[in-house]
Amino acid sequence: MRVIITKDYTDMSLWAANYVAQRIIDANPTPERPFVLGCPTGSSPKGLYRHLIELNKKGVISFQNVVTFNMDEYVGLDVNHPESYHSFMWTNFFNHIDIKKENVHILDGNAPDLLAECAHYEEMIAQVGGIDLFMGGIGPDGHIAFNEPGSSLSSRTRIKTLTTNTIQANCRFFDGDVTKVPKQALTVGVGTVMDAQEVMIMCNGPAKARALRHMIEEGVSHMWTASMLQMHRHGIVVCDEEACEELKISTYNYFKDKQQLEGVLNDYLHRFE
Ligand code: GLP
Repeated sequence: MRVIITKDYTDMSLWAANYVAQRIIDANPTPERPFVLGCPTGSSPKGLYRHLIELNKKGVISFQNVVTFNMDEYVGLDVNHPESYHSFMWTNFFNHIDIKKENVHILDGNAPDLLAECAHYEEMIAQVGGIDLFMGGIGPDGHIAFNEPGSSLSSRTRIKTLTTNTIQANCRFFDGDVTKVPKQALTVGVGTVMDAQEVMIMCNGPAKARALRHMIEEGVSHMWTASMLQMHRHGIVVCDEEACEELKISTYNYFKDKQQLEGVLNDYLHRFE
């Protein structure tokens, strides 16, 4: 696992965006062989999306041949609700880039047959040849997408009942009212994420410090589903200093020394200046 420690949220977002942009450029995607990007929602990726939009506007990258699959969506929330993940993605990202509408995939939490919707999602991912790079955030309880504690580490796209913890964490988007937060979601599985060629998780702020410790230092556990990243051959965590609060000094120092030696931090921070 690679761990990149940036000074703050701004640098985390810039580093992650430049890394993704470079991956897309390297892949040199075509309509026949598109680049397939897995997309998260939440506050963590907002800065990354802003930078990707800027790079698109500057002509550094194009999304013409990029196909996206979102991680998750609430069940039963109208797609036009401002807090649906459909709204989030179009408002914060897709409306501002040159992506083709037909290349965007987001689970339909209002589908008449939710199980069929999940199975179809997996089929569509397989049809394009799998996901090249899955980006993600992490919940304070270490969940990835909506794979709550206790989720199978080989799970596929399915319906998930949200924990009280997640409902409470997400009620900030619903006027602070837990009763307004949907109780279920459709989500890609941990196995779906792990099948990607590469997985990059963003983790910032003190509220994520415990989750980061579990993801990096503790064992692989279904109680901290993001810890499955330890089993991935190309897993990257991009975090900020505040999220490192609970890491052992030796762990922290190792990753700081490593990134200094390899020059990887500054390299990506300044890549497209
Ligand atoms: C939700 C999403 C996750 C996200 C998490 C953290 O539960 N389903 O994909 O990682 O929230 O969100 P935030 O980035 O806002 O802290």
